[in-house]
Amino acid sequence: MKIGIDVKANRLYSPQLVGLISTIDPKGKPNVATFAWITSVSSNPEMIAVCLAPKRYTYECIANNKEFVINLPAVDIIDEVWFCGKHSGRDIDKFKETGLTPLDSIKVKPPRIKECAVHLECKLANTFEVGDHIIVIGEVVAKSCDENAIVDGVLDVQKVKPLLHAGGSKFVVARDVVDVK
Ligand SMILES: Cc1cc2nc3c(=O)[nH]c(=O)nc-3n(C[C@H](O)[C@H](O)[C@H](O)COP(=O)(O)O)c2cc1C
Repeated sequence: MKIGIDVKANRLYSPQLVGLISTIDPKGKPNVATFAWITSVSSNPEMIAVCLAPKRYTYECIANNKEFVINLPAVDIIDEVWFCGKHSGRDIDKFKETGLTPLDSIKVKPPRIKECAVHLECKLANTFEVGDHIIVIGEVVAKSCDENAIVDGVLDVQKVKPLLHAGGSKFVVARDVVDVK
């Protein structure tokens, strides 16, 4: 067994499901960025936590407008996912640069992303500073997904092919389902 490994804990505990988070900036322009440190934290009410470095423009946008949308991307838009994780909305319009299509949301101002299979519209509920990141907790106020994305109450990964982040430029594509029944 290896001990004292020179690899960050977040890389050892991976891969982690990737989300594209859409927001509205203080001037009203939509922004989108890539995040992998995302997890559900409550089922009633439904709440999700996202860990953001405070310098992300996404954080500034959420602090200002208090709303965001978590969109679930698939492997077919991996280039757009990478681009949105490598450029800041402070400098460019990532919707224009990537060609991702903004769709009006049901309950919040930031847009959903048409090319994504699932959309979770969130209102900011709380923030906590932890180490070098800020945990942003959102209450899910509306949910939508592609017609065939959910089968028997779970995501059909063979259809959706969601992306997980292993670290650096490496991703994993979820395709197999194991049913213990
Ligand atoms: C696959 C991937 C996952 C990422 N996950 C996170 C994350 O969980 N938290 C974070 O603060 N930044 C994360 N980033 C970095 C941001 O996406 C990146 O800094 C981006 O440019 C921020 O854009 P913004 O300034 O428009 O918010 C990730 C980047 C990639 C490529």
